[in-house]
Amino acid sequence: MKATAKAHTNIALIKYWGKRDESLILPMNNSLSLTLDGFYTTTTVSFKEELTEDRFFLNDHPIKGEQYNRVTKFLNLIRDYAQRTGLYAEVSSTNHVPTAAGFASSASGFAALAAASTRALDMQITEQELSRLTRQGSGSACRSVYGGFVEWEQGMEDDGSDSYAVQVAPKDHWDVRVAAVVLSDTMKKVSSRAGMKRTVDTSPFYSSWVSSIPDDLTQIKKGIDDCDFEKVGQIAEANCLKMHATTLGANPPFTYWHDTTMAVMQEVRAMRERGIPAFFTIDAGPNVKVLYLPQHEAAVQKYLREIPGVHDVIVSRSGQGVTYL
Ligand code: ADP
Ligand code: DP6
Ligand code: CO
Repeated sequence: MKATAKAHTNIALIKYWGKRDESLILPMNNSLSLTLDGFYTTTTVSFKEELTEDRFFLNDHPIKGEQYNRVTKFLNLIRDYAQRTGLYAEVSSTNHVPTAAGFASSASGFAALAAASTRALDMQITEQELSRLTRQGSGSACRSVYGGFVEWEQGMEDDGSDSYAVQVAPKDHWDVRVAAVVLSDTMKKVSSRAGMKRTVDTSPFYSSWVSSIPDDLTQIKKGIDDCDFEKVGQIAEANCLKMHATTLGANPPFTYWHDTTMAVMQEVRAMRERGIPAFFTIDAGPNVKVLYLPQHEAAVQKYLREIPGVHDVIVSRSGQGVTYL
């Protein structure tokens, strides 16, 4: 009745931004990501007959409130699935990633929670089933079940039965690197969940964003297949800018960017002018992730670290999917 799992975060190259069903977490569009080996969560779940409610510890602190509610809500789903209603758990999780700062802690966090809780209950499920369950904790988390390049297929069904992630290319297919440029590791003011909802509900740019996705996906998958860095980088960067543009049209308008976010984007463009192929992408937070190839690692790190306001640069390679410890 006890298990520990590890899951990595992922960076979306084609973003998930908006739900068509908020309770089942069904997205408006397919998305595509790269699992990162530099950031991860380990979670131990221990179901105990004597508990009368779930307990949740994050980085050794007891958690209540909204973060606790998201965990118990997810465990209710697992309990229903396993027909173990009334059996509560102690959950102890460590984020080797800043929490709620736009580094995708919800992805590694819920993938690790899903894997540990299903294993603790000895549920015999496929990875596809695990991804489908994980999706209901946090959408982006369903992609962290797998390593390498991963696509979340939005699915057509109203019950979410065909909405899960699939691996597009394994982790050893291509050595693309991602530098996470740390500007701020404090919690963002607008969570991903709230930000995407406000955008779907109020941004006049939202429908154009959604209709631009299928073409981006076709192109980027071709680029990944061919290990065509320029193509993958260009599409990812443009897709990120389109997503962030939708938030400026929301009511009330908002942006996840800080001043230094712009400075990093400009430096990445300047690197390209100097002949270093590098491209940026940004999730729901101020911090920028820079894609580059191994031969440019030293130069990319040097230029990024020289930007005023940059606290740290953390390098990732393509990471693996969930593992059990
Ligand atoms: P992020 O950019 O970090 O994914 P989100 O707003 O999407 O930010 O999600 C952050 C939320 O994810 C946290 O406030 C918490 O509710 C949840 N979360 C993060 N890490 C964990 C974890 N290890 N276990 C369970 N839930 C987690
Ligand atoms: C911008 O998966 O964190 O990072 O499903 O509400 O938990 P919930 O949101 P979440 O949203 C991620 C948004 C994004 C893009 C992406 O990862 O695809
Ligand atoms: Co998240």
